[in-house]
Amino acid sequence: MKVYQEKDYEQVSRRAANIIAAQVIIKPDCVLGLATGSTPVGTYEELVRRYQEGDLDFSAVHSINLDEYRGIGADHEQSYRYFMNSHLFDAVNIDKKNTFVPDGMEQDSEKACRDYDEIIRAHGGIDLQILGLGHNGHIGFNEPDDTFAKGTHCVKLSESTISANARFFASMDEVPKEAYTMGIRSIMQAKKIVVIVNGEGKKDIVKEAFLGPVTPRVPASVLQLHPDVTLVGDEAALSEYQGSILKG
Ligand code: GLP
Repeated sequence: MKVYQEKDYEQVSRRAANIIAAQVIIKPDCVLGLATGSTPVGTYEELVRRYQEGDLDFSAVHSINLDEYRGIGADHEQSYRYFMNSHLFDAVNIDKKNTFVPDGMEQDSEKACRDYDEIIRAHGGIDLQILGLGHNGHIGFNEPDDTFAKGTHCVKLSESTISANARFFASMDEVPKEAYTMGIRSIMQAKKIVVIVNGEGKKDIVKEAFLGPVTPRVPASVLQLHPDVTLVGDEAALSEYQGSILKG
C-alpha cells in the first residue's frame, strides 16, 4: 500500500484529485467508483476547478457510486444522488445517464441489489475506486459483520453510523436506518483504490484497518489484501499509522 501524508485537508484533496485526474486523462472512458461523506468534498471541488480550467474532460467517464440510503429519493437533500449531483455531476461535463447510484426508492431490496450488480458487471468493473472510511471501519456502507458481504446488499446501519449521520438531518427520526451498498467483492475487484482520510477522529480506525488483522469486524481491513491501494491522509489522521509513509 502506498501512503501519502499531507499537511492539511486542502493538500489531501489535491493529492486525491491528482490521482483521479491522472486516471481520467490516461483512460478518458474510465469507470470511476465514487464515494460520498464529508471527506471527498474537497477532492470533488478540486476536480471541478480543474474541469473549469479546461484540464479535465468527463464526457466519456462513467461513474458508479458506492451506496445510497434506502427510503429517500434523488430530490432529498441528504440522498447520495443529490450529494453527487451538487458536488460534482452538475458542475462538470459528465453525462448524467452515465452516472449510477443505487435506487434508494426501490422498495424491493433484492431487485435493487440485483440491478446494481448488473450495472457494475455490464461496465466491466471499476477502474478507480474512491473510498472514505467510517469510524467503525466501514467502507461504502459495509458495516462490521461476521463475514464480508460480496455483492450489493441492503444493510441495517449500525448505531454508531446512524449517530454519525445524524448531523446531516433535522431530527434523529429522519436519519435513515437502512442503505443499499456495493459489496466488498465489487470494491476489491476495482483495479485501483484510493482511500481518503482526514482529521484526528480517523486516527485509531486508520491504524486498526491498515495495520491490524484482516477481519470483517473492521471491513476496511480487507483492503490490505488488494494489490493497488493508495491511502491519502492529513497528519492527524495518519498520526497513529506506523507504516512507511510518503510525505506530500
Ligand atoms: C458514510 C458513507 C461512507 C463514508 C463515511 C465516512 O457512512 N457511506 O462512504 O466513507 O460516511 O464519512 P466522512 O467522510 O464524513 O467521515
